[in-house]
Amino acid sequence: MELSVQSLADLGNMTGRVALITGGAGHIGRAMAAALAEAGADLCLVDRNGEALASARAELHWAAGNVSTHQIDLEREDEREGLVAAVRESHGRIAVLVNNAGFVGDSQLGGWVTDFAGQSMETWRRAMEVNLAAPFHLAQLFAPMLEQNGRGVIINLASIYGLLGPDMRLYEGTKMGNPAAYAASKGGLVQLTRWLSTTLAPRIRVNCITPGGLERGQPESFRSRYVERTPLGRMGREEDFKGAVHFLASDLSAWMTGQNIVVDGGWSAW
Ligand SMILES: NC(=O)c1ccc[n+]([C@@H]2O[C@H](COP(=O)([O-])OP(=O)(O)OC[C@H]3O[C@@H](n4cnc5c(N)ncnc54)[C@H](O)[C@@H]3O)[C@@H](O)[C@H]2O)c1
Repeated sequence: MELSVQSLADLGNMTGRVALITGGAGHIGRAMAAALAEAGADLCLVDRNGEALASARAELHWAAGNVSTHQIDLEREDEREGLVAAVRESHGRIAVLVNNAGFVGDSQLGGWVTDFAGQSMETWRRAMEVNLAAPFHLAQLFAPMLEQNGRGVIINLASIYGLLGPDMRLYEGTKMGNPAAYAASKGGLVQLTRWLSTTLAPRIRVNCITPGGLERGQPESFRSRYVERTPLGRMGREEDFKGAVHFLASDLSAWMTGQNIVVDGGWSAW
């Protein structure tokens, strides 16, 4: 009996496919863009930060495929709608949508990184808009394009805090925190992934990547507590996400939908 099995190189080849990455100018977004460009994809980087978009574009000078950038604010419904025509003009179509942009706020933002009583409805709504409403809306807006070649892909970036409750002891003595809206929006995104996967099958596959915490110059007290609790003994790095996004975006995962790949150094395995 002769089995005809495609090579890993053929299954992983993304030449001629366009991948749109929201938050494409951010840390994980850039690493995922590089991974898909290495696999031959054309890229459409979407972000609200124009300067960061320009530098992300420059970093990809070696990419063989086309790279376009689109500066929009994903909090705005009209700008999300306008993106469809802009993408049609720059690339004609997309085959992969990566919902990676996240509302992560910062310690300066009022009503966000603070105790439960101080968390505001305004930051709750903004987090829900970027982390949950925008992925829903972009999936809806781009589904007709993604369906066209019969193997469209959507990948959502969630968080371990969409799966697990926070251990607030990690943040003691720092200005860091873990707002309810972040956790709830990411938990919603994991479930939206499942909902979309059965609804859009078989022409579009929908999966999720759930990152654990990445090293970002956090205070040493936090970092050491985090690492202590992580089986693989370190925080995440941007390159840790290259394999998962390539796997999910390409035909390497052609028989997989509705799943969540947790890339967290084993944080959630205890
Ligand atoms: N860094 C971590 O430790 C970590 C952990 C778990 C999950 N995640 C998730 O991974 C994803 C990427 O995170 P990152 O660490 O690369 O973050 P990052 O802040 O480096 O990048 C996020 C990008 O999204 C863009 N963005 C934010 N709001 C936007 C908006 N309204 N419109 C358009 N663009 C917007 C930002 O400008 C930025 O370039 C996020 O969804 C985040 O929640 C990150």
